Amino acid sequence: LRQSDPIMNLQFPDGRHGWLIASYAEAVEALKDGRFSKDVTKAMGVEQTSVFSTNMLFSDPPDHKRLRGLVQKGFTPQRIADMRSHIQEIADGLLDAVSSKDTMNLIDEYAFKLPIIVISEILGVPAEDQDKFRLWSNSIIGASNQVMNEQVVQHMNEFIAYLKDWFAKVREQPGDDMISQLVIAENQGDRLSEHELYGVVTLMIIAGHETTVNLIGNGVLALLEHPEQRKLLQEQPELIHGAIEEMLRYNGPVEFSTSRWAAEDLEFHGVHMKKGDLVVIALNSANRDSKQFEDPDLFDITREKSQHLAFGKGIHLCLGAPLARLEGEIAINTLLRRFPHFELQGDVDELEWRPGMIVRGVKEIP
Ligand code: HEM
Repeated sequence: LRQSDPIMNLQFPDGRHGWLIASYAEAVEALKDGRFSKDVTKAMGVEQTSVFSTNMLFSDPPDHKRLRGLVQKGFTPQRIADMRSHIQEIADGLLDAVSSKDTMNLIDEYAFKLPIIVISEILGVPAEDQDKFRLWSNSIIGASNQVMNEQVVQHMNEFIAYLKDWFAKVREQPGDDMISQLVIAENQGDRLSEHELYGVVTLMIIAGHETTVNLIGNGVLALLEHPEQRKLLQEQPELIHGAIEEMLRYNGPVEFSTSRWAAEDLEFHGVHMKKGDLVVIALNSANRDSKQFEDPDLFDITREKSQHLAFGKGIHLCLGAPLARLEGEIAINTLLRRFPHFELQGDVDELEWRPGMIVRGVKEIP
């Protein structure tokens, strides 16, 4: 596809058109091109009704800058670097809890728990409610490409009801956590609407763990499949930074970008697109483009800085990238140090991949 049809025309049963961008150079341009809107109301004239989509990821400037600005301070590289020793304690605590067992499920007991505890603490919601967050966010993410069934709607309503109660508590007694800051901004009226408050908080909870779990999971899988790379990293743990970048490139946790729409009739790389056409960027495909990466199907943790697109590009570049990188580094190096001889129970080919188009990761790693 990258060679024969890098900007592929998609025809939907309802007559709509879309474009799938599979090659690296075109993907970078599309991610940075302001003619592609993330705002469905502006591009399609369709009212945005879901609170789960009223946030920076689904907005254009100037709303995008305002919404991102409200939380950005909490995610600067320095703020995140300050969390290193605490994240290390969490990783060690999770591995202490399984150390007497012969078998663990790496996803449930480690890769999922680490990021959900961290994002819950940043936001100020109780980490004990992590299983509910997981259920709700799995349901919402899975639903984006399926027909919404009753259960998904029920999960969405439960999530909103939970936040409603939580916001009421925070309004009475704000702390120094991120939700308290957002609730204060909402009280000031012009900085954040109630809809946006729900949208930003749900995005942070969902994006804060649904992706990093798969950086850890896919990263460990890559090491299991490439024992010589695992040995290299075990002998030289300082290679972890390059290893994380290679894990993100080789099998990134976000397979496709979120939707964009042509905001006007336009021409992109010789292709005519009409206002309202859907545009999706195949991030993991771009990350295997041989025009950008030498020997792209090779997993090589010593690869030179690779400019992969796992965190996107342009104004929607992942806000949580410094946090995700740090969590990934600590999680993987701690696992290799504490359980140097871990093995997969079963065969890699037998692992079951999660459904849905956006998130790429396996359900379990025993
Ligand atoms: C946006 C990937 C972890 C918060 C994005 C985008 C990608 C991405 C590809 C842009 C999507 C697009 O343009 O359509 C990832 C990956 C992660 C990760 C691969 C883990 C390895 C996190 C974490 C947070 C987070 C831990 C926690 C706060 C966000 C937010 C946005 C975003 C808020 C929207 C930014 C904006 O629209 O300005 N992420 N993400 N992500 N991510 Fe992440």
